Amino acid sequence: MLEESARSNGGLKRNLSVYHLIALGIGAIVGAGIFVITGQAAAEYAGPALTISFVISAIGCILAGLCYSEFSAMIPVSGSVYAYCYTTMGEFLAWFIGWTLILEYLFACSAVASAWSGYMINMLNGWDIYLPQHISQSVFKYTSEGWSLTGSLINFPAVFIVGIVTSLLMGGIKQSAIINNVIVAIKVGVILLFIGFGLSVILAPDFDLKSNWTPYIPPNTGVFGEYGWSGIFRGAALVFFAYLGFDALSTAAQETKRPQSDMPRGILISLGICALLYIAVTAVLTGIVHYKELNVEAPIGVAIDKAHTLAWLSPFIKLGAIAGLSSVILVMMLGQSRIYYSIASDGLLPQPLAKIHPERGVPRNATIVAGVLTALIAGLFPLQVLNELVSIGTLMAFSIVCICVIILRKTRPELKRPFRVPFVPAIPILGAVICIAQMVALPWVTWARLIGWTVLGIIVYFLYSIKHSKLN
Ligand code: ALA
Repeated sequence: MLEESARSNGGLKRNLSVYHLIALGIGAIVGAGIFVITGQAAAEYAGPALTISFVISAIGCILAGLCYSEFSAMIPVSGSVYAYCYTTMGEFLAWFIGWTLILEYLFACSAVASAWSGYMINMLNGWDIYLPQHISQSVFKYTSEGWSLTGSLINFPAVFIVGIVTSLLMGGIKQSAIINNVIVAIKVGVILLFIGFGLSVILAPDFDLKSNWTPYIPPNTGVFGEYGWSGIFRGAALVFFAYLGFDALSTAAQETKRPQSDMPRGILISLGICALLYIAVTAVLTGIVHYKELNVEAPIGVAIDKAHTLAWLSPFIKLGAIAGLSSVILVMMLGQSRIYYSIASDGLLPQPLAKIHPERGVPRNATIVAGVLTALIAGLFPLQVLNELVSIGTLMAFSIVCICVIILRKTRPELKRPFRVPFVPAIPILGAVICIAQMVALPWVTWARLIGWTVLGIIVYFLYSIKHSKLN
């Protein structure tokens, strides 16, 4: 089965080179995590030590990324970790992980569309353009008192951007990759400007950097997760969201020219570049502004306002954020549609989702379904609720990938592995442990939502998938 999946290409076109993959990776990774969530994580959990959280999270991602690379080079097919599990652990576990991946991509796309809407409305307001209240917010909100209505009918900008991205993806992967390259250049450029000019502010002789960075690890308040080392771990679990996306790359393996060598390089290089950018942005951010003031929707904007000499950067940052968030939605939507396609190809989801458009070479039905579901969730729910759910689901998926590497080395040692994780089983075990430690640091309500989603998946499997499975 492995050999078969590596050979067949199901009508998808091989158009992507390693440079496309690195750009797609950065396109998928740099988004709401750095532009929005960093501020909240520094203010509430880790303080300036959020840089350490970013390092911990990056180590977990790089170890999981190595494991992803071994699989995606060995099984270069569209379904990412779902396909790896299908071939190593059987149908039910594969369905379970596929369902978790749907959670990741569907809710991450929706969360980022909601963040896009926030930045867009903010930019329009700056030009004295105001959208009516009843189309500019999510329908529901969640506070410590529970769920309530905001009074809005739909988050229209969020639905709008999902619609645009869906039509782009229907046009074919090559066209999507070119647009992505342009966007990536804009957002990385903007982030480099912030780092460069920000460093010149905090390193200036008359700037009081010490007062913002002391203590670098604020003491724990007595509550688990509020500063101190438990805060650093909770911060890591939260900013883990910022690294998501590199795994979406592996869903494009079937459309890559030389998946065996390019996929591992694409994953690891894009992850490494993003880790360096994040650590530098966090250092500059918490250097310019005291961490307590960072719990806002646009923390980088606050830092720029605070350092008066950087005011000219403000419109560029907003533009970069809007462009950046758009490309995250693009790649995550790509991943989402490929997961539906892959699961449907095995008969576990309705067959129309497994159809490839003969000319464009893309799974159009799966793309439309991804677009409609994402627009619906992005229009209804706020960003904050979706983040943690996405993180916990993905951490679980990463832990399973790490474990699968060890299992497959034992059960199928003879398979050709163009890329091999070094020091097995130490590296996969360490990767799984770091991911599980971050899951443990998340609040119980997030666990409850993950369990709810999983139960729903099991019901769908026994009511639909098992009866239509191609294995049966
Ligand atoms: N890594 C992506 C982001 O931060 C999901 O928006």
